[in-house]
Amino acid sequence: MSNLKNYSRRRFLAQSGLGLVAFAGMPGFLHAMEGMQGLHGMPKLTPNKASPNFKPDVEFNLSCESSSVSILPGQKTLVQKYSAKLIKGPENTITEIADSYLGPLINLQKGQKVRINLYNKLAEPTVTHWHGLHVPANMDGHPMYVIDPGQTLVYEFEVLNRAGMNIYHPHPHEATAKQVYNGLAGALFVHDDEEAALGLPSGDYEIPIVIQDRLFDEQNQLIYARNMHDRMTGFYGDRILVNGRPNFQIDVDSRAYRLRVLNGSTARIYKLGWDDGTPLTVIGVDGGLLEQPQVKPYVMLAPGERLDLWADFSGRNEGSQLVMRSLPFSGVLPKMAARMGGMMMHANTLPVGSDYPIFTARVTKKVSDSPKLPAQLSKINWHQISATANPEKPLPIGISEGPMAMLLNGRPYKFDDIQDIERIKVNTIQLMEISHAHGGGHGKEPAPASGEHGAEKQNGGMGGMGMMGGMKHGDDDQKGGGQGMMGMGHKGGMGMMGGMKHGDGDQKGGGQGMMGMGGGMGMMMTMAHPIHLHGQQFQIVSRSASANNEADYATVRDGFIENGLKDTVLVMPGETVRIIKPFQDFKGLFMYHCHNLEHEDMGMMRDFLVE
Ligand code: C2O
Ligand code: CU
Ligand code: CU
Repeated sequence: MSNLKNYSRRRFLAQSGLGLVAFAGMPGFLHAMEGMQGLHGMPKLTPNKASPNFKPDVEFNLSCESSSVSILPGQKTLVQKYSAKLIKGPENTITEIADSYLGPLINLQKGQKVRINLYNKLAEPTVTHWHGLHVPANMDGHPMYVIDPGQTLVYEFEVLNRAGMNIYHPHPHEATAKQVYNGLAGALFVHDDEEAALGLPSGDYEIPIVIQDRLFDEQNQLIYARNMHDRMTGFYGDRILVNGRPNFQIDVDSRAYRLRVLNGSTARIYKLGWDDGTPLTVIGVDGGLLEQPQVKPYVMLAPGERLDLWADFSGRNEGSQLVMRSLPFSGVLPKMAARMGGMMMHANTLPVGSDYPIFTARVTKKVSDSPKLPAQLSKINWHQISATANPEKPLPIGISEGPMAMLLNGRPYKFDDIQDIERIKVNTIQLMEISHAHGGGHGKEPAPASGEHGAEKQNGGMGGMGMMGGMKHGDDDQKGGGQGMMGMGHKGGMGMMGGMKHGDGDQKGGGQGMMGMGGGMGMMMTMAHPIHLHGQQFQIVSRSASANNEADYATVRDGFIENGLKDTVLVMPGETVRIIKPFQDFKGLFMYHCHNLEHEDMGMMRDFLVE
């Protein structure tokens, strides 16, 4: 009911053509009402229309709609999905992925002028963001540009990016994760002359690999976040899908391939490696090709990150196969949460950091010829720290995490809440430092190294945070039962109570468990966050890990790629990452946020105002 009111109120503003002006002039109580209805002070704008002066080289319609697809054997799954129709431009601009909820592959050329007509055929507001593209602020899919059901939003921009793999996905306030989870996402490739000159494997030999995890009920329907715990740690499915398919398999010739990998999961982090120990040959990351190929034993891939792999099956026999796995690692989730997750979801889950297959490459044809890996792939225009506007004073991005406080720089997302450190002069290059700020109102004492916690500590700890109720594990929890509730206490430490049944002699006296953490929330809640900045890609200057987490860090440290352009960087617990990022060409609001999409929706998101 209140939603309906909300829609009509917003539609009135849109139709009145007054948009922002009308909003700004509203009496205070109306502002308050809007805020309560979930708009968070976001203005309602009249959707952008096609401009007569813009002459597109490429134009297509992109619809967001409800649909059903066959994913698992048996019943179809209800999804939300992008579909596209080319109006003008090269035929390969849009390539559907057969039988998938994933949006079509979009192929653009650097320099093209592109018009995209976004149709909202959903029953809820949405907007699309071009993750990785350097476009004007009002074309970037900021949540303030959401359109209501039935509305159309026109995007017009020139492709300024170098060649690379980007993502398009929804970005409505507090509903990004759910819409992506329901299926709204796709890969967008930019091509340029530098890439073309290399003659890299293409056509049948270039394969997109979009990795996602999903949880299904017995009717093959998607289950999404059931409680606060799911949101706090991020939501994890127990089934890995590649390009929207389970048990994904590619049939390959015994030659080189180019695999364009994207982690499209809402929260799951992968440690990619071949099952036989063959190293990965990395030729590119988020912002396109590296300068030279780099060989890695494995690669960490967090939500939003991309990986360009040279996969050479030369010399392999017909019938042989190679499995891409996620290899074991630790330390990205709070120990406590990892244990709880396991307890809550039983044996059918796929714990983050466990060892499991992602897809199989099966050699079905022996051939004698294969392209050679170029020694030099591209030229990157690196910036020196001395060329930044603030070599001595990096702009901070401080991460604070907690059940009630997923923050960046100490603040949750709020529209029009720009702080001094969030104002950036256009056409500058900034040094930035991403670190764990522990400003979320929780204790700072280190957690017990073992991650064990005894009930006798409950009283000592005095609940800096409390977690209560509904942490039942077992089958009814799987179906959306268990409502978690979390509350903040005072002092330090953490308390967790109620309904924590656990087996395996984990904690004797299960049933109505009461658990206490003596160690405080500081370390306990510390987890890894893939931090994403909209706009131009950045370079990674340094990473420094804290000594606390050495054993965990050793399981991931060889999987980071620092010599490419990035727009999303995985920041491990205790880690401080320095980056250099240009803010060129466009003024306006550009977001930065955690690409654990549950965290983003909980408020771990802010705006930079480029002015
Ligand atoms: Cu991929 Cu602001 O997001
Ligand atoms: Cu983005
Ligand atoms: Cu996060």
